[in-house]
Amino acid sequence: SKNTVQAKLVFLGDMGTGKTSLVQRFIKGQFHEYEESTIGAAFFTQILSLNEGTVKFDIWDTAGQERYHSLAPMYYRGAAAAVVTYDITNMDSFKRAKSWVQELQTRGNPSMVVFLVGNKADLDSERKVEIEEGENYAKDNGLLFLETSAKTAQNVNELFYDIAKRLAKA
Ligand code: GTP
Repeated sequence: SKNTVQAKLVFLGDMGTGKTSLVQRFIKGQFHEYEESTIGAAFFTQILSLNEGTVKFDIWDTAGQERYHSLAPMYYRGAAAAVVTYDITNMDSFKRAKSWVQELQTRGNPSMVVFLVGNKADLDSERKVEIEEGENYAKDNGLLFLETSAKTAQNVNELFYDIAKRLAKA
């Protein structure tokens, strides 16, 4: 029989970059123009069935506000995968994403699958972070990379299924 893996997946990234929106888009197929800022963290579960096996995700959607930063290690400890988000219209959020990546590389599980995600790709006319900047940073740091839109659903299923595939094979 095919294997089943239970995997902790954590979302990290600056406030307002769309962590909650990406999770909501994937789990409920919904998008809200006004999404409330997360307090502490929110927890969701989702089961994905693939050819490679079944992945039961325990998803932690953390709060991006700086005052919650000290809680983050509780959420990435033991995580099989992390999604670090930035907003392509906000250069500061890209800098913040890089500092999350550095924190994960120093203090996180070394075998963690880390995805760098440039969200709000639908706002291309307001873009401040070129796709190449995200791609190059990801390549130089051994990360997976995608640009997504929780609004249009661009690359949202791809993100979760790509993570699941890697974990199911491991
Ligand atoms: P915190 O909980 O504060 O850390 O924020 P977050 O990263 O969870 O962001 P959230 O999902 O709450 O989204 C913040 C705002 O951006 C909301 O108004 C969303 O509607 C909007 N938003 C999220 N994703 C997208 C997207 O892909 N495109 C556009 N245009 N807006 C988005």
